[in-house]
Amino acid sequence: KAMTILKEFEGRCSTPMSKLRQVADAMAVEMHAGLASEGGSKLKMLISYVDNLPTGDEEGLFYALDLGGTNFRVLRVHLGGKEKRVVHQEFEEVSIPPHLMVGSSEALFGFIASALAKFVATEDPALNLAPGRQRELGFTFSFPVRQLSIASGALIKWTKGFLIEDAVGEDVVAELTRALEREGLDMRVAALVNDTIGTLAGGRYYNPDVIAAVILGTGTNAAYVERAHAIPKWHGLLPKSGEMVINMEWGNFRSSHLPISEYDQALDVESLNPGEQIFEKMISGMYLGDIVRRVLLRMAEEASFFGDTVPPNLKIPFILRTPDMSAMHHDKSSDLKVVGTKLKDILGISNTSLKTRKVVVELCDIVATRAARLSAAGILGILKKLGRDTVREGDNQKSVIAMDGGLYEHYTKFSSCLESTLRELIGKEVSKNIVIEHSNDGSGIGAALLAASHSQYLYVQE
Ligand code: BG6
Ligand code: GLC
Repeated sequence: KAMTILKEFEGRCSTPMSKLRQVADAMAVEMHAGLASEGGSKLKMLISYVDNLPTGDEEGLFYALDLGGTNFRVLRVHLGGKEKRVVHQEFEEVSIPPHLMVGSSEALFGFIASALAKFVATEDPALNLAPGRQRELGFTFSFPVRQLSIASGALIKWTKGFLIEDAVGEDVVAELTRALEREGLDMRVAALVNDTIGTLAGGRYYNPDVIAAVILGTGTNAAYVERAHAIPKWHGLLPKSGEMVINMEWGNFRSSHLPISEYDQALDVESLNPGEQIFEKMISGMYLGDIVRRVLLRMAEEASFFGDTVPPNLKIPFILRTPDMSAMHHDKSSDLKVVGTKLKDILGISNTSLKTRKVVVELCDIVATRAARLSAAGILGILKKLGRDTVREGDNQKSVIAMDGGLYEHYTKFSSCLESTLRELIGKEVSKNIVIEHSNDGSGIGAALLAASHSQYLYVQE
């Protein structure tokens, strides 16, 4: 009976190539719709106001603040211009106390500002900020924001584990600036960016062929460089570069082609944001472990998979985290010792048989494989939109995709499945031109670079 439940689930999750192609096509269609008009699609295709990506000329001391991943980070980056590039970089990582993720806006921004103030206090006087010069900051805020300029924008909604009602609709830069003032910190936010945009900028600094960035972490999202002409909803001046970076917010993608199971539906209904972020809930690190838990719970309840009683911990949402799922999935020991230990330590289930452990590994594989393959389909969607999913004779223009996030970085089976699926989807010829690159913590540097290129002192210096 337990096997029937597993096999049924596996059937629901199947992602043959034909299905992935449908998902990619639907992604490309929604991208067009989202660019055509505000509210034209589930894909918001947000305009980032980044129309120039880093060149390497950026110079000076800049701060960055990164909010929205597992940890909150503050960075200090010293940029040395074309020759010297990044001269010096320091960062500190702080985890956000969970109560602040669902509290008030003032409490969250106050916490961030105070961590930043402490960090600024450790600045080495030798870094030599010109007298009277205001410190400048790139603010990576990894949630959907409707921007009004490069350094302002209203929060559209929270995603992942955050839910702070009084911040929705507010300008997050104004909120941060007020909190900084309360801390007595004189600092100007020069750029407000999504983590995908930061990662794209950070990637471009090191590699001019970077055209898109994908985050696969707690949440998932993508950004890419679009031709300004191809954005009908953009009514501003045409940027000199002719380009505009778009934050897709692809976590909110949905399509009838997605292989959604009853467990996904239940997870969605019981989540902080029902009906939203459906793609994200099938793919990203915040949710994968919980999908596994839900299937195990059903197997325990309906097929006594773990014996006569249902292990009570199995009923606790999010108790099984994706890093633990990954550890079980990668267990190479012949008796699946890691699986045994995790089941015992996390779920309180002791003395599991090898057969039981094998089933658990199989379940992790089903969930991770679906997620990785859907991510690959998403990337194919972007390549299609850009016309980079085919090659013309003699064309060897590289398209580099900068990737980051804990899921991509640490869940090896996930990332290798993603890459092999993408290669299979695009074929050998196109594959030669597509590079997937890990941009490690690129979004912090990226935000600092964008702060530098939007510095108030840029023209004064020359
Ligand atoms: C980091 C980026 O490396 O990855 C962040 O610098 C991003 O900006 C994060 O939000 C996402 O990963 P995770 O796994 O922490 O959600
Ligand atoms: C969520 C956020 C998005 C972010 C992504 C990755 O999807 O809405 O803005 O880029 O997570 O952190």
